[in-house]
Amino acid sequence: MWLLRLASRFLNAPTIHNRADPDSCKLWPNNPGKFQLTANPINSFNHWLAPKPPAPRASRIASFTPDSNPLFLCSIRNVTVKDDVRPVGHLVSEERYGRRIARRLSGVGWDFSDADADRQSIHSFHSYPAKFIPEIPRAFIRELSPPAGTIVFDPFCGCGTTLVEAQAAGYASVGVDVNPIGCLITSVKTTPLPLTFTSEAESCLNRAREMAAMPLPKIPNLAHWFRRDVTQALSALRATIHDVRNRRVQQALEAVFSSIVVRVSNQDSDTRYAAVTKAMSAARVFDAFNRAAQSLAAIAIRTKPNAARATIINRSIFDVRASEIFGDVGLVVTSPPYPNAYEYWLYHKYRMWWLGYDPLAVKANEIGARAHFFSGRRHEQDFHAQMSKLFALLSAIARKKTYCCFVIGDSKIHGEVVDNCKHVQSAAQIHGFKLVFKADREINPHRKSFNLHHARIKREHVLVWQR
Ligand SMILES: C[S@@+](CC[C@H](N)C(=O)[O-])C[C@H]1O[C@@H](n2cnc3c(N)ncnc32)[C@H](O)[C@@H]1O
Repeated sequence: MWLLRLASRFLNAPTIHNRADPDSCKLWPNNPGKFQLTANPINSFNHWLAPKPPAPRASRIASFTPDSNPLFLCSIRNVTVKDDVRPVGHLVSEERYGRRIARRLSGVGWDFSDADADRQSIHSFHSYPAKFIPEIPRAFIRELSPPAGTIVFDPFCGCGTTLVEAQAAGYASVGVDVNPIGCLITSVKTTPLPLTFTSEAESCLNRAREMAAMPLPKIPNLAHWFRRDVTQALSALRATIHDVRNRRVQQALEAVFSSIVVRVSNQDSDTRYAAVTKAMSAARVFDAFNRAAQSLAAIAIRTKPNAARATIINRSIFDVRASEIFGDVGLVVTSPPYPNAYEYWLYHKYRMWWLGYDPLAVKANEIGARAHFFSGRRHEQDFHAQMSKLFALLSAIARKKTYCCFVIGDSKIHGEVVDNCKHVQSAAQIHGFKLVFKADREINPHRKSFNLHHARIKREHVLVWQR
């Protein structure tokens, strides 16, 4: 260190050049007397030895990247920085840097009112009420640009919108969800579809059409929710999918099967758990399966963009240990479940029964399932404790300065609106996360969400903390 200090005396007009990202940091010689190195001496020494960049030009456009070394390496102390001017070559204090991030995030129109429904992308595969619109995780990843080599983490990944967007941006990701249907969809969306998929789908369909009557599956209340001919067609499809050898093709076909279950059942819709009469038949089931398989083949990814790996853990987040999340978490993007909003286990119940999962085990672990919230204010304490456990895990796995981005709505319980942000904010604070941004967004009235109809809540909140 003393060697470096000595060297700095003899070098006037120092230029520090960050090899990894030359544009991210150029130190202007307009205050050489106050120059001071603050980083690890070995790294600093490397930077000193790096060749000088071409004649420096002041730039007020490029911004410092979050968590990048330049923030530490290029520090000149005691310089006043105006808020709206890029402090070229001057100290960017962490507080001001935080404000810059908040300003960037305020520039995003979080309502995304003109968002395209992404019909032609993999996001449109399989309905999953209360899922993110892809613009939300896309904006977080773009604006907060996690350091290269780190992973994007979603502790409640649902049908994988965050993981798909992370993959498209070239980041590896990890998603956790207690719901096996969400995990199945996520896996199919983030795994290249094998070339044999279409022919295997056709073969399953043809064999199922010719199959003789099958014994009825052991599913509770089956006759109430499915016509007998529909049950026969679904049983035949399930049996042919079961025989597929290639596991990736089989998973994709299971997801296709799952995508049609509610439509061909007597259940009104994904957001209304009531039996209605529908004009359905075995032929229509096969037809729906065929169309769903073709549409998956048209939109699925064929290769992994930049080889970014998506890892999916099908478990309650409270049963996941920090050591199971490999790699450095550089960004968290999630929309947590919250009390009394949407019962994922209930609305996906028959998908789970048909595919051999146990919806009752999912129910027991699902945060916010309404059945848990019938007694007084217990729900609020429970939710606070659950969010506190979550932030304890995040603080164990997220590298320093990592941003945690949440989108969360309010609940209506016993007629009272409950501010869920308050609980998440308090849990985050307990574990040392600092709130750097908060905004409200209007929920698109056409979005499928149980909460909208049930509670008439039309807004949700965007919150970003930094560790
Ligand atoms: C709002 S949704 C997330 C949707 C997701 N952002 C997407 O785009 O698909 C909340 C998710 O939390 C999951 N969940 C509920 N309780 C959980 C728990 N204890 N552990 C992990 N996931 C849970 C639900 O299954 C649901 O998929």
